[in-house]
Amino acid sequence: MKKYYITTYGCQMNVHESEKLAGMLESMGFLSANSVEEADIVVFNTCAIREGAENRAFGNIGALKPLKKIKKDMIVAVCGCMTQQEEVAKHIYSTFRFVDIVFGTHNLHEFREFLKKREETSKRQLEISHDENSIAEQVPVTRTSGKNAWVNISYGCNNFCSYCIVPYVRGRERSRQKEKILNEISELVKSNKYETITLLGQNVNSYGNDIGNGYGFKELLEDVCEIEGDFKIAFMSSHPKDFSFELIDLIASNDKILKEIHLPCQSGSNEVLKNMNRRYTREKYLSIINEIRRKIPFCRLTSDFIVGFPGETEQDFEDTMNLLKEVKYNSIFAFMYSKRSGTVAEKMENQVPEEIKNERVNKLLALQKQIQEEKLSNGKS
Ligand code: SAH
Ligand code: SF4
Ligand code: F3S
Repeated sequence: MKKYYITTYGCQMNVHESEKLAGMLESMGFLSANSVEEADIVVFNTCAIREGAENRAFGNIGALKPLKKIKKDMIVAVCGCMTQQEEVAKHIYSTFRFVDIVFGTHNLHEFREFLKKREETSKRQLEISHDENSIAEQVPVTRTSGKNAWVNISYGCNNFCSYCIVPYVRGRERSRQKEKILNEISELVKSNKYETITLLGQNVNSYGNDIGNGYGFKELLEDVCEIEGDFKIAFMSSHPKDFSFELIDLIASNDKILKEIHLPCQSGSNEVLKNMNRRYTREKYLSIINEIRRKIPFCRLTSDFIVGFPGETEQDFEDTMNLLKEVKYNSIFAFMYSKRSGTVAEKMENQVPEEIKNERVNKLLALQKQIQEEKLSNGKS
C-alpha cells in the first residue's frame, strides 16, 4: 500500500484543504503515513500570509532533498497560497528540482489529475490556474480534526485590507450555495462523529453578498441551527465592518451556537485602521464588543492584532495597548507586520524597523498575558 504525508501551514482554510488533499489521495488508494520517511508522496500545503510562514515552508521543502536522493520514486508536491503566486510557483519549480508537482489554490480539486499525469508521463508538473470563479464541490474529504468538522461557507475575500495577500491568492469572494452547505452539515451531524461544526470563510459575515438575494450569514446560521441533532456551531473569521447587532441577538438566543467570537481588530488606532483599509473605527469596534458583552456576558472573545504597520507611531501603538486593557480578551494573536508583495501597504512610506516591531509585539503579548492572569485569578478565564 502506498502512503502519503501532508504538511500544512496557515489558517483553518488550509487545514480543511489538506483534509481534501487527503480525501483525494485516499480515494486513489493511498494511506496516511506517520512520517515523511515512510511516505510515497509528500505534500506541502503552504501559506503566504507572512514572510516567516513562507520561509518555514522553503526550509522544510529544501530539507527533503537528501531523502528524495535516496527515495527516487517518492513524489513531492507543493501547493497552497504561496504557489498561487505565479512568481513564487516558478521559483519553487526551478529552485527545487526534486519537486514533482506544483499547483495553486484554484486548482486544488485537480490534484488527482496532476498526480496521474506525473506518473504516466514522468514529467514534472507546474499547474497554476487563474480561474478563480469555480467552487469545486464533490471533492472527497478525510477529516482529521477530531470532534470538529470544518465546513466552507465561502471562498476568497473582497476586502483588500492593505497589508493582506489573501485576496490575491484566494481570489474574489464566492459563497457556496446554501443547499450545499446545509446538506453537508446534515450529513456530518447524522454521522454522529462530530461535536462541533465550524463554518469557514475569510469573512463569514459577508456570506451571500455575491449571490445578492438577501440571504446572508444570519439567515444561514438560523437554518444551520434548525438542523436536528446534538451539535454545536462555531464560525470564523468575522469582520467587524459586517458584524451586525442582529447576529449578536441570534448568537445570544440560540443554544447551538458556541459563545465564542473571534473578532480580529488589527489596531486600536483610527489612523492605522484607515491606512489598513479596515473600514471601521475603534469606536465602532468597541460598540460591537460592548453589545456582545451586554447580550452574551460570558462570551469568549479573541482577536488578531498587527503591530508595526507602516506609519504606526508610539501613540498609535499605545491606542492598541489601551484597547486590550479595555476589552480584556480571553486570548489574542499578535503579529509583526510583514511586507507582502503586490499589496498596497508594500509601497507605503514609513515602514517600521524590525527592532521596534519586535519590541511592540513583545509588549503587547506581555500585556495580554497579564490580563489573562488577572482574569484567571478572578475566575473569569
Ligand atoms: N480573513 C481573516 C484572516 C486573515 S489572516 C480575517 O480577516 O480575520 C489572519 C491574520 O493574519 C489577520 O487577522 C492579520 O492579523 C494577520 N495578517 C494578515 N496579513 C498580515 C501581514 N502582512 N503581516 C502580518 N500579519 C498579517
Ligand atoms: Fe485579509 Fe482583510 Fe480579507 Fe481578512 S478580511 S483575508 S485580513 S483582506
Ligand atoms: Fe495563509 Fe492562505 Fe490562510 S495565505 S492564512 S493559508 S488563506
